[in-house]
Amino acid sequence: MLIFNKTAGVFFKPSRRKIYEVLGSFHFYPGKRFLHKLVLGIETSCDDTAAAVVDEAGNVLGEAIHSQTEVHLKTGGIIPPVAQQLHRENIQRIVQEALSASAVSPHELSAIATTIKPGFALSLGVGLSFSFQLVDQFKKPFIPIHHMEAHALTIRLTNKVEFPFLVLLISGGHCLLALVRGVSDFLLLGKSLDIAPGDMLDKVARRLSLIKHPECSTMSGGKAIEHLAKQGNRLHFDFQPPMQRAKNCDFSFSGLQHVIDKMIMQKEKEEGIEQGHILSSAADIAAAVQHTVACHIAKRTHRAILFCKQRGLLGQSNTVLVVSGGVASNLYIRKALEIVTNATQCTLLCPPPRLCTDNGVMIAWNGIERLRAGLGILHNTEGIRYEPKMETTSMTWTSAASGPSQHQLPC
Ligand code: KG4
Ligand code: ZN
Repeated sequence: MLIFNKTAGVFFKPSRRKIYEVLGSFHFYPGKRFLHKLVLGIETSCDDTAAAVVDEAGNVLGEAIHSQTEVHLKTGGIIPPVAQQLHRENIQRIVQEALSASAVSPHELSAIATTIKPGFALSLGVGLSFSFQLVDQFKKPFIPIHHMEAHALTIRLTNKVEFPFLVLLISGGHCLLALVRGVSDFLLLGKSLDIAPGDMLDKVARRLSLIKHPECSTMSGGKAIEHLAKQGNRLHFDFQPPMQRAKNCDFSFSGLQHVIDKMIMQKEKEEGIEQGHILSSAADIAAAVQHTVACHIAKRTHRAILFCKQRGLLGQSNTVLVVSGGVASNLYIRKALEIVTNATQCTLLCPPPRLCTDNGVMIAWNGIERLRAGLGILHNTEGIRYEPKMETTSMTWTSAASGPSQHQLPC
């Protein structure tokens, strides 16, 4: 078992005795035998330390998560070394909790699956080092996981969804539209040219000082915007959705964020208040921002659906759009997407909110999917590194840049 030495700030391998001491704290059921494949999933790519044990049938046997949101809200964003330290402090406890809740002994696991990309290097490193120690100790196969692949496949744990399907991943770090043709076969249709929608909502929430709002102080930026928007009137502000003339399926949020920032500054002047205090029009701004973001996301998704339909890429019947990632828990954005799917005879599917945000279940499930498909199961972890950047030109993420961009779509 891996122990973090706080003084030295490094990982070290403890003695075998120490490992058995730690494992002594698990509550196993010795007579129990599992017929299904069992995977332990570990996620540390961003600001959640999460682990889960999932079986082949999609049963979540045990899960645990430690969220860093409150800490990062106070510092006004994620500071990578702080996130790393919190992952180090929590990973052992979280993995132990997930295993104990599942009543699965590490010996009974079929494999250990861990996010290795994309994400913050310092955060990914904690999960990967910890996993390597477990893999080494229990002699288990290792399955490296692409965080976005895991988000995309989560729906196959909760619903019966066959390939191919369209996926929209919208979170704090990512924004992409892809055609999912297989477990590890993605055709990228569009992505954000700058920041992700969750990042933008977090920045707007910070600029509006929503952390000081009594109803929003513990919420992520996106959630705070959604909450406040319910009390506001979106018609009091008129923000235009970005890229209205762009004949592709890409997204952009930083220009819109700039316009909103300017509007907030102007309102502060009008209301005679200093930055850091809450505007009386904050709820109206939140409602208008949410509406504009929802329109932009819905329009780009509409283009992607039309493109896939025109090309016969989605199959003839039961066309499915899956929406996942933290921002997908926003019910207003879901409603906008529902209008698009209704108009295009598609079915909109979203995992439940707790599986839309980062979690260990999606990593474990991705491990099960890869085990079943016989893809990327490693018996030797030598040379495996974490990869902070999103790789869209690899085999698994084929880019369709020449697709929707070149072929003009009716929209
Ligand atoms: O998927 P996630 O947990 O982490 C990654 O970024 O990978 O997503 C977190 C993001 C944050 O930016 C947060 O503000 C946003 O999802 N978010 C929301 C809502 N809940 C979380 N955005 C809009 N509406 C929400 N209800
Ligand atoms: Zn995520």
